[in-house]
Amino acid sequence: MLNQRMTPLYSKVIEHARENPHSFHVPGHKWGRVFPQFAKETYESVLRLDATEIAGLDDLHDAQFVIKEAQQLLANVYGANTSYFLVGGSTVGNLAMLCSVCSKNDIILVQRDSHKSVINGIQLAQAEAIYLAPDYDEKTGLSIGIGLATVKEALNSYPNAKAIFLTNPSYYGVTIDLREIIEYAHTLGMPVLVDEAHGAHFGVGDGFPRSAISQGADLVVQSAHKTLPAMTMGSYLHFNSSFVSKKTIEFYLQTLQSSSPSYPIMASLDLARHYMANLKEDEVLSILESSRKFRAQLKEIPQITVVELDETVNSTVDPLKVTIRTKCELTGIDIQGLLEDKGLFVELANEEYLLLVLPLAPFHQSEQIVSLIRSVLKPYKPIDRKIGEKKIGIQKISSFPFKKETVDQCKIEYIPIEQAVGYFIAEQIIPYPPGVPLLIPGEIITNETIETLLKLLEAGAKFQGHTNIKQTGLKVFTIDDRKEDEK
Ligand SMILES: Cc1ncc(COP(=O)(O)O)c(C=O)c1O
Repeated sequence: MLNQRMTPLYSKVIEHARENPHSFHVPGHKWGRVFPQFAKETYESVLRLDATEIAGLDDLHDAQFVIKEAQQLLANVYGANTSYFLVGGSTVGNLAMLCSVCSKNDIILVQRDSHKSVINGIQLAQAEAIYLAPDYDEKTGLSIGIGLATVKEALNSYPNAKAIFLTNPSYYGVTIDLREIIEYAHTLGMPVLVDEAHGAHFGVGDGFPRSAISQGADLVVQSAHKTLPAMTMGSYLHFNSSFVSKKTIEFYLQTLQSSSPSYPIMASLDLARHYMANLKEDEVLSILESSRKFRAQLKEIPQITVVELDETVNSTVDPLKVTIRTKCELTGIDIQGLLEDKGLFVELANEEYLLLVLPLAPFHQSEQIVSLIRSVLKPYKPIDRKIGEKKIGIQKISSFPFKKETVDQCKIEYIPIEQAVGYFIAEQIIPYPPGVPLLIPGEIITNETIETLLKLLEAGAKFQGHTNIKQTGLKVFTIDDRKEDEK
């Protein structure tokens, strides 16, 4: 084990800042000296870290010194062959992973409830996705990940697929054991890529799920900024593969990321790794205890239920994620609004659920937060609510019948939502958060999806890039029956 007490990048940047250097290079704020006066004090300490690739401070795209050492410490703590700092979130990691394993017309097996960056990555690589629907927990309606049986069936039908792409954990923190899938894929010489955006803290100790890299995954992205104390956009990519070329992944990382990566973000990634690596066993136990206590106290509030998976399900829930289901006339979004009025902001809300992300630190405000939620909900009567169907992806394995070659023979039109059943969608429809597309271009619009969409709209859900979806309708492909010469 390397010395995990070291913070090579952060320490070097601080050392440079302490020397009060004269800056005749970018960035233009000159270590914070040139800045709007009213905001100077607020930004001052961060701008003193906002360096660039000057002598001694290394270069993310050709790491030789302090960034290399910081990334080695990172790889060491997760047990990866090589690890990389990302300054464009797991988004850029997903794009780079996908471009590295597939090219034009290659087939890739992809979990249907993936984040939009995965769908965009497939489009960028011009690959063809075969979507695998996850299993669902009957008790909660939540996705519990892809089963081995689904993977086997898909690989039987598509033995020439280039890779398998999984998302684990889900946004709600539901996580599965990946080992069987990875071992099976590896016997066929196929790499497994994992979007572990919400699991950067996995492997921190007993009581937390195991990280994907420790289970043998080939490439893994993690949003350090989501659950570790890193700045927003700060993420990690881990490489541990004999099936994927390290050179190719490095090529795409430098192609897709800025040539001026943020030093405050990178230094915070160094510190986030330090934080995680140095958590003591009793601190981990205390985090787990805080989570248990918070859940137990929330369970006493009659207007809500704390979501727990069916006991027969082979998945576990990340202790940092607490999902609450409404059990009163209010939707999750209504409750979110009431809590925001009291200064409490949750991670996600929809018609049924609210998701709270706990800190990776002992949490002492449990009683105060629970009593706030209790008082906000007091005027509302508890009622029984039917659990809604959350399912997306109708078939277990689907390649959309609407292929890229057919697109040229089509025109694109907007159709009122209620009349869109049976059409092929021509755009992504993305409730945000969680950013998992409800519809992906080429997918057939079913009654089920329209019902879900209408429910989400009624509950006040936000759709990225579609502020006016009710008025504009859905963008669909229709057959272009104009004669060739009229086009
Ligand atoms: C499952 C999943 N993957 C990837 C991302 C993108 O991560 P980032 O925000 O770090 O770019 C998100 C963001 O919410 C996500 O939920």
